[in-house]
Amino acid sequence: MTSTTDAAEDGVSMVARRFVVGLAGGSGARYALRLIEVLLRSGAEVEAVVSRGGRRVLLHECGLPVPLTGGFPADLLVDDPSLRVHLTVHDLAAVEARPASGSARIDGVVLVPCSMGTLARVAHGLSTNLLERAADVALKERRKLVVVPRETPLSVVHLRNMLLLAEAGAIVLPAMPGFYQQPETVQDLVDFVVARILDSLGVDHELVRRWSTPESSGAVGPFDEGEDPLISEGGG
Ligand SMILES: Cc1cc2nc3c(=O)[nH]c(=O)nc-3n(C[C@H](O)[C@H](O)[C@H](O)COP(=O)(O)O)c2cc1C
Repeated sequence: MTSTTDAAEDGVSMVARRFVVGLAGGSGARYALRLIEVLLRSGAEVEAVVSRGGRRVLLHECGLPVPLTGGFPADLLVDDPSLRVHLTVHDLAAVEARPASGSARIDGVVLVPCSMGTLARVAHGLSTNLLERAADVALKERRKLVVVPRETPLSVVHLRNMLLLAEAGAIVLPAMPGFYQQPETVQDLVDFVVARILDSLGVDHELVRRWSTPESSGAVGPFDEGEDPLISEGGG
């Protein structure tokens, strides 16, 4: 697929941001579906890769008619044909595809959900398919790599592999929705995690309310300049 280029009013061409979303076989395929939708709505291009485990999770968790072999139908990831124009789904084996190359313009790679197997292989530089290669390239090119692991409890092996990835520069963002936003639906929980992924990628969104200091916290302020209460009370 060709990249989207919008001519900006000042004559400088603006190129759409491009993200790779890798769906591995961890639980939580809904996070990926929502992320892809919101990225496309933001005007970004998305290149998706689904592992064999990822297909099975989409089938069993989301009830989608995912073929376990052969080409992956893009309409299973995104309903809306107008959004799908900016989605490319790559074959898992296609290590010649754009996400495999360090010279390709890719703004970030997200592995969501990330199985412990894919996490281990990426942590150890073992790229056996396009999904793992895209993550490996992101690390070597110092591009943003967001890994959304899902498993519980975690073994020492899992924890060590996450540490390796964090040390290599990845953002390890476990699928751990918080409850301080008072979620009422599964979609609220999904959006909590997807919002944190979008924050990590630097993509604007309005999926969740931003936390601000609760009135019950006892905070005083906002302070005008020169009115720091610690100073005026002689403290501090
Ligand atoms: C419905 C379902 C849920 C799964 N959930 C997880 C999970 O949360 N974490 C995990 O590491 N593996 C999970 N698995 C197992 C992985 O999909 C399996 O280990 C697979 O080989 C991973 O392959 P991949 O890393 O190439 O995607 C799940 C499998 C299925 C079918």
